[in-house]
Amino acid sequence: MATFTIMNNMSGQKSEFEILESTLGAPVVDISGLRSRVGAYTYDNGLGETATCQSSITFIDGAKGELLYRGYPIEELANKKNYIEVCYLILHGELPDSKEYNRFERDIRVKSYPHEGIKYLFRAFPDNGHPMAILSSAVSALSAFHHQHLNVKDDEEFMEMARRIIAKMPTLAAFTYRHFMGYPLIYPDMERYFTENFLYMLRAFPTGKTEISDVEVRALDKIFMLHADHEQNASTTTVRAVGSTGAHPYAAVVAGINALWGRAHGGANESVIAQLEMIGSVDKVDEFIRRAKNPEDSFRLMGFGHRVYKNFDPRAKVLKKLRDELRDTIGINSRLIEIADRIEQIALNDEYFVKRNLYPNIDFYSGTILEALGIRKKMFTPIFVIGRTVGWIAHLIEQKKDSKQKIYRPRQRYIGKTRRSVP
Ligand code: SDX
Repeated sequence: MATFTIMNNMSGQKSEFEILESTLGAPVVDISGLRSRVGAYTYDNGLGETATCQSSITFIDGAKGELLYRGYPIEELANKKNYIEVCYLILHGELPDSKEYNRFERDIRVKSYPHEGIKYLFRAFPDNGHPMAILSSAVSALSAFHHQHLNVKDDEEFMEMARRIIAKMPTLAAFTYRHFMGYPLIYPDMERYFTENFLYMLRAFPTGKTEISDVEVRALDKIFMLHADHEQNASTTTVRAVGSTGAHPYAAVVAGINALWGRAHGGANESVIAQLEMIGSVDKVDEFIRRAKNPEDSFRLMGFGHRVYKNFDPRAKVLKKLRDELRDTIGINSRLIEIADRIEQIALNDEYFVKRNLYPNIDFYSGTILEALGIRKKMFTPIFVIGRTVGWIAHLIEQKKDSKQKIYRPRQRYIGKTRRSVP
């Protein structure tokens, strides 16, 4: 057994802790019982050096810029599979055969309708409410409509619950969009594939034909796939923390939606476009690069940098290629791309960014594609939610199956007042 030794120089005490090998990537040191054995806790601001669980869903190599879903490289999945096949892979651990795919895909279509009562929830919101606030409320309502007999010890029941929320998320996101646009709600069309159906619910009107091209469906399908899962990021960690208390799985997903909303996380895609529009022209880029490098200036280059990737985000590579392929077919905003390309060209050669391993991440490119699909900026993070829902649910299922999983309860370094009496 490989061990890790901690020598406490204050007490002279030496303690050994088991090193657990990982299938891929760094091993972990099991520090269970650390406090009682060495008299101290570890301190890890932001948990960037701490494994909070064991998982077999996604692996990321930040140095290489590698991302595997159940062992398959994201680039290969993006070229050969569709989002629903990848949902099956992430949930079940293997790609579906044609029979498994047809049954799963059909069930997702059937489950895309939410309970009719949820429709009335949207009327309560002001039409200028942020879609992420409205979407998280609608998903929270799902745990009110689907709480009966939720026996999460039953694997099939949990899978049924997983398929239900994957299927309903696009419908709730589309209802959210229609609400803030003041448009009538459009229901899912069972004859359409998942991603096409979402574009249909965004664009259709009660009368007239809805134009949706295969190119657009494939582009958005890839975007959903690239967002499907990403190891223990902030929102997935939030979902696992809520799931560890035994809360309703949809309540855990709602917590994930709200964690994702932050602009340091999933909210960055909306901020990237807002930032490109604020910069406004190529000749202003240098000024904003200077601001991004200035430690006194809170300005950050949205879509750049990552907690784990210290190389190109592999998803960004797929999206950049897709964006350039789509440039002439769906009319991507060339002015924004010109500014984005100028930022990338400077940042990738500037010592400040190179020294800090700051590369474009997934959010740097997704926005220009979504904008070209006619999707409003405020809907970019709800699109991220649609893609990521399968990852969140898969982590909840994995956590439920881990009999050793404990409730999340980290400790702290207390730096407050010592005990004192009330005067
Ligand atoms: C996502 O975790 C995941 O997997 C998330 C995600 C997923 O799929 O779930 O990949 C999705 O959230 C992608 C990231 C989207 N966010 C952004 O694009 C926002 C802009 N990026 C930064 O806010 C930042 O890079 C973070 C939050 C993403 C990462 O922050 P880190 O790793 O904690 O970096 P840091 O704050 O420790 O910064 C290290 C240095 C600092 O400079 P020094 O103090 O060393 O002088 O790099 C600088 C930072 O000031 N820096 C930046 C910068 N990001 C970091 N400087 C300018 N612009 C930036 N974007």
